[in-house]
Amino acid sequence: MTTVIEARDVSKSYGDVQAVNHVNLSVEKGALFGLLGPNGSGKTTMIKMLTGQTRPTGGTATVLGIDAEKDPVGVRGRVGIIPEQETPPSFLTAQEYLEFVAAVRKIPDIQKKADWWFEFLDFADKKNVLCKDLSRGTRQKLMFTQAFIHEPELALIDEPLINFDPIMQDLVKDYLAAYVKKGKTIFISTHILEVAEEICSGFAILHKGNLLHTGPVAELTARGEHLPSYFLSLVRKDRHV
Ligand SMILES: Nc1ncnc2c1ncn2[C@@H]1O[C@H](COP(=O)(O)OP(=O)(O)O)[C@@H](O)[C@H]1O
Ligand SMILES: [Mg+2]
Repeated sequence: MTTVIEARDVSKSYGDVQAVNHVNLSVEKGALFGLLGPNGSGKTTMIKMLTGQTRPTGGTATVLGIDAEKDPVGVRGRVGIIPEQETPPSFLTAQEYLEFVAAVRKIPDIQKKADWWFEFLDFADKKNVLCKDLSRGTRQKLMFTQAFIHEPELALIDEPLINFDPIMQDLVKDYLAAYVKKGKTIFISTHILEVAEEICSGFAILHKGNLLHTGPVAELTARGEHLPSYFLSLVRKDRHV
């Protein structure tokens, strides 16, 4: 098995706040891995460290064999990323933004690929609209497109389903599940536990920056447990520690 993400004893503090506390995680190629946790548990901080957007204050994060702290640009060139609450540039149209991404990422045949995504996520009618005038949902479609249009071997998405309606959520869920069947790897953060149980092969639970559990989803299901109730019991117990 090939390890695609390896976090060793990773920590991040912001002044007095310990956002991530000595976390060890590993994700294998082909996994759809879900990072779960209540608000403020350190999910976004963890993704930022894995994608070289912020430096750990301790430990090392290795992504596709690259140290994300030492070579953040190297990591970003190889992966697809949707940062939390990021929106496309207000002054470009949806079409122009994808052309821009294609130029940076040196993606050939961009129009064919862009048109496929416009159809697939049902926003072809918005392709010449300035991003500042797009709804949140449509901006998220565009962010989703930029993360996957070059078919990266690894995609890291902070809350992939946020801002999507149920129809779009279903479409995106199916897309993610099919994507990893091609041998690619996806790392998502989410607090929609039912979705994680349905599509994730592996998961980790963070609470107040601490890793409470990591392992395959199948291990839980084999014990007759459900991820949402397991999650709630672990987090509740940890609150009273
Ligand atoms: N840039 C920052 N400066 C100071 N504190 C931060 C910063 N980013 C996150 N935090 C704090 O770190 C903790 C974890 O935040 P975050 O990683 O955003 O959690 P999650 O994504 O799970 O909601 C929170 O207490 C948050 O307030
Ligand atoms: Mg977050």
